Amino acid sequence: MAAYFVGMIDIEDAETFDLYRSLNPSVVEAAGGKYIIKGQPVSTLEGDDFRSRFVMIEFASEAALQRFYNSPEYAALRPLRERSSKSSIAYINTDSASSDCTAYQIPRFGDDVDLTPVTSTMAELGAADLRIQPTLISLNPVDWKIRSGILAALPFTFPYTPGAEGVGVIEAVGVDVKGFRPGQRVMAFSSLLRGGWFANKVDVSAIQCALVPDEMSDEQASALSVPLLTAHQAIKLHNGAIGRALVIGASGSVGSIATKLLRQITKNVDGLCSPSNASHVTGLGGNVIAPEQAAEGQYDFILDAAGGPIIETAYRSLAKGATLVSIVQPVDEARAKAASAHAIRYSAQPDGKQLADLMAEHKDLPAPRVALTLPLAEINTALHLLKFGRVRGKIFLKP
Ligand SMILES: NC(=O)c1ccc[n+]([C@@H]2O[C@H](COP(=O)([O-])OP(=O)(O)OC[C@H]3O[C@@H](n4cnc5c(N)ncnc54)[C@H](OP(=O)(O)O)[C@@H]3O)[C@@H](O)[C@H]2O)c1
Repeated sequence: MAAYFVGMIDIEDAETFDLYRSLNPSVVEAAGGKYIIKGQPVSTLEGDDFRSRFVMIEFASEAALQRFYNSPEYAALRPLRERSSKSSIAYINTDSASSDCTAYQIPRFGDDVDLTPVTSTMAELGAADLRIQPTLISLNPVDWKIRSGILAALPFTFPYTPGAEGVGVIEAVGVDVKGFRPGQRVMAFSSLLRGGWFANKVDVSAIQCALVPDEMSDEQASALSVPLLTAHQAIKLHNGAIGRALVIGASGSVGSIATKLLRQITKNVDGLCSPSNASHVTGLGGNVIAPEQAAEGQYDFILDAAGGPIIETAYRSLAKGATLVSIVQPVDEARAKAASAHAIRYSAQPDGKQLADLMAEHKDLPAPRVALTLPLAEINTALHLLKFGRVRGKIFLKP
């Protein structure tokens, strides 16, 4: 299935139109379009509605066509066409009858449960939602945790399509949505109960989406929402100044971004990670230490992004008035209180506006380390690697 951009043209200023004609093919090609008819003369058989020349360009989807038409590159060329010709422009979406989606679903929790592809007709788009065609999906530890049933206390419904974040192109917008239109590139961290990114189409609440900055790669856009919002929201739980901070699990996706954000607050950011990841953390401005080197009673803010017994290091390192945030495991509030500090277990919240604001404020966020990219159909292998593979960096899925 495809979408066809069609134009009928009467040229009025050949010189200017030739300039447009010489520049446009590279814009079309860069957007994935293919000329089927390139301005050939029209021979009319009946009627007088046709113009003298006809153009037809094929795109893989309506979203791809819209992306071309709304792109800054095409916007720059359009005035040349408009000045030099009379034209009628339209498009035909041969896919429009189909709202089918193939989603990788689980019927229940369990490590032994494979995600299986199910093709079905999508429900009508919610008024506040965007329908997105994912171009790249990022895996997060929460994906295997959900399948395992670790979060079974939450009211998940089955069949459930996991997938918390990714990047894609808007196919359609709900009737109440403002500020988004088809063809735009968006990224999102979807609420966990809804998930849905392990599919070739996903509906996401528009308030959880942000437009992707032009210069941002699909890899970065796909894998930024969860770690950036988590790190930012965790740091904001601390009231007061941060003179010294500790990040446990500093080499991971959340730990890396937290290290970077904390370095903008203080020079003194210590990080715990495996020796093999030390240079990555140092590159972010963190000071890599061994657990026994953690400065006793001196950290104003500690993020536990690793889990496990290493959190012991955190309790003995809290300064008076400090905040310990674990995004992984329960915390011992009484123990933190005994050190005149606070301990909070935190779950990040999706927020598209906050995501957009943070991206505008922090232009030098680290790009994710890419471990591997697999076809979406290999989702079960990807989840296995995520849980057991100790891969260094992100695993991506391509629909
Ligand atoms: N509560 C929330 O809202 C929230 C949000 C996001 C993430 N999380 C949780 O926070 C934790 C970190 O998430 P993330 O996205 O930063 O994870 P990640 O990118 O996969 O990084 C995890 C880091 O943990 C270390 N690690 C220790 N044992 C590992 C193992 N068996 N396999 C792979 N890595 C292992 C690795 O660093 P070293 O080898 O250097 O130690 C790795 O860099 C996860 O448990 C995740 O579920 C919670």
